[in-house]
Amino acid sequence: MYKILITGVGSYLPTNKCSNETLSNFVDTSDEWISKRSGIKSRHFVSDNEKTSDLAFFAANKAIENAQISKNEIDLIILATTTPDNTFPSTATLVQKKLEINAVSFDVQAVCAGFVFALSVAKSMMTEGNYKNCLVIGADSMSKLLDWKDRSTSVLFGDGAGAIILQKIKNIESRYDDWGILSNIIHSDGQFYDLLKTNGGVSTSQKIGFIEMEGKEVFKHAVDKLSSSLEEALKASNKKIDELDWLVPHQANQRIILAVADKMKIDVNKVISTVKDHGNTSAASIPLALESAVSSNKILNGNLIGLHAIGGGLSWGASIIRIGKPKIL
Ligand code: ACO
Repeated sequence: MYKILITGVGSYLPTNKCSNETLSNFVDTSDEWISKRSGIKSRHFVSDNEKTSDLAFFAANKAIENAQISKNEIDLIILATTTPDNTFPSTATLVQKKLEINAVSFDVQAVCAGFVFALSVAKSMMTEGNYKNCLVIGADSMSKLLDWKDRSTSVLFGDGAGAIILQKIKNIESRYDDWGILSNIIHSDGQFYDLLKTNGGVSTSQKIGFIEMEGKEVFKHAVDKLSSSLEEALKASNKKIDELDWLVPHQANQRIILAVADKMKIDVNKVISTVKDHGNTSAASIPLALESAVSSNKILNGNLIGLHAIGGGLSWGASIIRIGKPKIL
């Protein structure tokens, strides 16, 4: 018998912080509009010489330290990103190079849902394969995809990275069955491709393009699909919503977070929200929020947590996890 446990978390935000007031110096907007419509107060942007792999590397180091393992024990790196350093090779291989370790490394692209997709791929590979210690990272430099002339999108996004360590622990007693990753649910539906996309890309325009979004439509899908996937993940793990200690949702918009909490009838005090401090960091948003709640001693070892996210594709999903490791290990 073995379990796949979440034994470390880490995150990183670029030092360049941009408040709504500062943003309104170069975008036709205001703190009042952004705060009211999204709950965002500030975001962080990469500097000119900072790349997605740098954010990922810093977050990875913190997760490794938090898990109290040697970096050499990592044999698998899965990095969720939409904003790679280069079109190819994968940014994960750059992180592997920077860490100076040997590990199978590749990127996953499911935009804002990237972290839950990466978690699902990691669990499958660790279950089927011989991987023992996996570094799962969500890292994005969304500022590189923003059109500063489009105020309906440019005020919502920021840059950052978060990471977790998954460890396959063998010979674990059956009474610890409900620790680690309990369920993963992922979905995609390309009929909604145009609701949220870049207006360019490698094989269409040979340019990266800028984000375009039908905000109201995305809002409705987000509330529905975040709720339904969480319900599915709860059912798959035989848990009820009341049993969750915490819900760590994708940090896109405070109004979406509150609408889902209301729909799911979950106490809003159990919902982690950090969107105010960093805006929508895409694949980084869940591990950033998770790390913030762990380091501030809100989320404790052994807590039962729901995670869920939605992004372009549309792609969406949810996971139920019991974080940390039993005291006997
Ligand atoms: N500052 C000031 N005014 C603005 C801004 C801005 N940044 N952006 C739009 N406006 C104006 C519009 O021009 C419009 O003006 P008008 O009435 O004179 O025409 C007015 O504000 C209302 O615009 P709407 O687009 O109708 O605003 P809405 O209430 O729908 O809010 C928002 C827009 C915040 C994008 C909302 O639709 C939303 O939250 N959607 C969810 C999308 C989201 O969070 N996406 C993140 C990525 S996907 C994901 O991660 C889930």
